[in-house]
Amino acid sequence: MHIRWINLLLLTLLVLLVGTIFIVRRNYPTRNVELLPGMVSYVAYNAQSVNPNFADGKTLQRPVAGTVVRGFPPLPSADTTAVAMSVGEKLTNPLNVNDSIAAVERGATVFANICKPCHGARGAGDGIIPQKGYPPPPSLLAENALKLRDEQIFNIITNGQRNMPSFATQVVRQDRWRVIRYIRSLQQQSLQKNIAAQ
Ligand code: HEC
Repeated sequence: MHIRWINLLLLTLLVLLVGTIFIVRRNYPTRNVELLPGMVSYVAYNAQSVNPNFADGKTLQRPVAGTVVRGFPPLPSADTTAVAMSVGEKLTNPLNVNDSIAAVERGATVFANICKPCHGARGAGDGIIPQKGYPPPPSLLAENALKLRDEQIFNIITNGQRNMPSFATQVVRQDRWRVIRYIRSLQQQSLQKNIAAQ
């Protein structure tokens, strides 16, 4: 007897449930009901449009002062040689010895594509551009370049130096360190050749 009532109740609940599901069933051609639609569809400003919400009236705002782009921690800035040298002391070459071979190979590609037109295939300063009248760069195999620390060369590539423009946009940071490895290998070969010639 008791069981019968429970069964009846359960049956009623089942019918109600199925009925409700049927009533609120998804109607695919129409949109679902949106609760608080204002959170979903807001009125966006076009990037270049005038914007009364900001003091300068622009939609595109500059990043907040001190913003650091992920993967681009700020480098000490420098453009004159004297500062470049001191900045060089504040950086360290992040490549470790195990990276060397791959680094030198990648560095060779970067050198051939970016540096060779001025510095020449072997770094002697005899590239095609100086042959056409551009102020010739000093040889990367000479005394001065041998004495430059990795970090100072990094700085020269990043900020340029006198007649050499900055290559920061063409050569990503990791590639700058790799091209330095390649320059070191050129210097090594040239030193060995000189010793053999003596
Ligand atoms: C547009 C020609 C040009 C290109 C391209 C160029 N350089 Fe230079 N580079 C120069 C000139 C010119 C100098 C001499 C700058 C000066 O007067 O101090 C120089 C100087 C240097 C020096 C300092 C050498 C020294 O003994 O003082 C280094 C190191 C160097 N370049 C590395 C590179 C690397 C690495 C690249 C490629 C990423 C590169 N350069 C691409 C023209 C160029």
